[in-house]
Amino acid sequence: DTNFTILAIETSCDETAAAVIRGGRMIVSNVVASQIEEHRRYGGVVPEVASRQHILTIDAVVRDALHPLPGGWNDIHAVAATYGPGLAGALMTGLNVAKAIAWMRELPFIGVNHIEAHIYANWLLTDAQPDAPEPQFPVVALVVSGGHTLLALLEGHGRYRMLGQTRDDAAGEAFDKVARLLGLGFPGGPAIQTAAENAPGGVTLPRAWLRDSYDFSFSGLKTAVLHQIREYRAREAALQPGAGKRGASAATEPPPLPPAIVARLARAFQESVVDVLVTKTVEAARAFGAAEVVLAGGVAANLRLREELCRRSPVPVHIPPVALCTDNAAMIGAAAFYRLNAGKQDGWDLDVQPNLPL
Ligand code: KG4
Ligand code: ZN
Repeated sequence: DTNFTILAIETSCDETAAAVIRGGRMIVSNVVASQIEEHRRYGGVVPEVASRQHILTIDAVVRDALHPLPGGWNDIHAVAATYGPGLAGALMTGLNVAKAIAWMRELPFIGVNHIEAHIYANWLLTDAQPDAPEPQFPVVALVVSGGHTLLALLEGHGRYRMLGQTRDDAAGEAFDKVARLLGLGFPGGPAIQTAAENAPGGVTLPRAWLRDSYDFSFSGLKTAVLHQIREYRAREAALQPGAGKRGASAATEPPPLPPAIVARLARAFQESVVDVLVTKTVEAARAFGAAEVVLAGGVAANLRLREELCRRSPVPVHIPPVALCTDNAAMIGAAAFYRLNAGKQDGWDLDVQPNLPL
C-alpha cells in the first residue's frame, strides 16, 4: 500500500530522531536533533548524557515530524522504533514513546533493528531521484558505522546472511580513535576526511586482510598510527637541544602535531580503511552474484569510500545521501514498512536489546 504511513522513532545513540514515511519509501518528514554539542567536550558519546537528552527532546522532535500531516495523528497507520542494538538507556526512551503512542491510538507497533534500518536507508526515495527503482536482490550490503562494521548478503526482505564483521573496532570507531590520536577532535570521521584532502602521500599503513574471511580488523591500524606518531616525536626530541637529558619538559604535554604530519597520517589511515572495506565488498559481490551493492551507516558519508566503491564494484552501487547515512528515523520507517509487509509486528512486551545482532 503506497499510502500506508508510519511514524518512526530512533534514539539508539546520540541523535533523537522521528520521521514519517509513506509507502516504505517516501519521506514525508525526517527530523533529527543531534546531541553532538552535548558530547563534544567529553570527546565521545556519554550514555548518561544521551539518555537525559533524549528525554528532553523526544516530544518536540515527534511533534515536528507530524507537522506536515494535514490530519495530524489521524494520518498515522503504524508506529515503529529502534529496539537495538544501541545504548540501553537511550533506546528505552524512543521505544517507550513509540509503544505509548501506538497503544493510545490502537495502532500496530513495530520494533526495528538499527543495523537493518541502516541498510534500508537505500530504499528511501530522495528529491534527487524521486523515481529510483528499489535495490535488486541479491544485495550485498556494507554497513559501516560508529558501532558496527559488517558485510551481509540480503536474498530478500528479511532474509539476511552475515558474511563477516569486525573482530575489534568498528570502522567509525577507528576513525574516531585515530582522530583523537591526531588531535583532530570528535567526531573523527569528517575531521579525518577533511585533513586528508590534498594531503601529500608517501606514507602507507598496513591493511589487515584476514585472508579467506569477510571479517575486518582495524585495531592494528590504529596502533600503526600510534607508532608513527611516537616515531615522529622521538625524532623531534632527538633534535632538541639537551636531548637525552631528562628535564622538566618531559612532564609537559607534547605540542600538537604539525598539520602536514596530521594530514599525511589521516590520508594513509583513510586509504587503508577504504581499501580493505572496498576490496572485501567487491569480492563478496562477485562470490555471491550480487545484483547490487548497497552502502550504509555513518562512515558511508566518507567521500573516498563512496568514490572507490563505485569505481571498483562489478555491479551497480547504491549509496544513500549523507543525511540518510548517519543515524535518522526515516530509515527506521523504511525497515518497519517491509517488516510489517512481511506480516511481522511486535507486542508491548518487546524490550530494548542493546546487543541485538543483524
Ligand atoms: O551511523 P552513525 O551515525 O552512528 C552509529 O550508529 O554508530 O555513524 C557515526 C560514525 C562516527 O564514527 C563518525 O566518525 C563516522 O560515522 N563518520 C565518518 C564520516 N562521517 C561520519 N567516517 C568517515 N568519514 C566521514 N565523512
Ligand atoms: Zn547508526
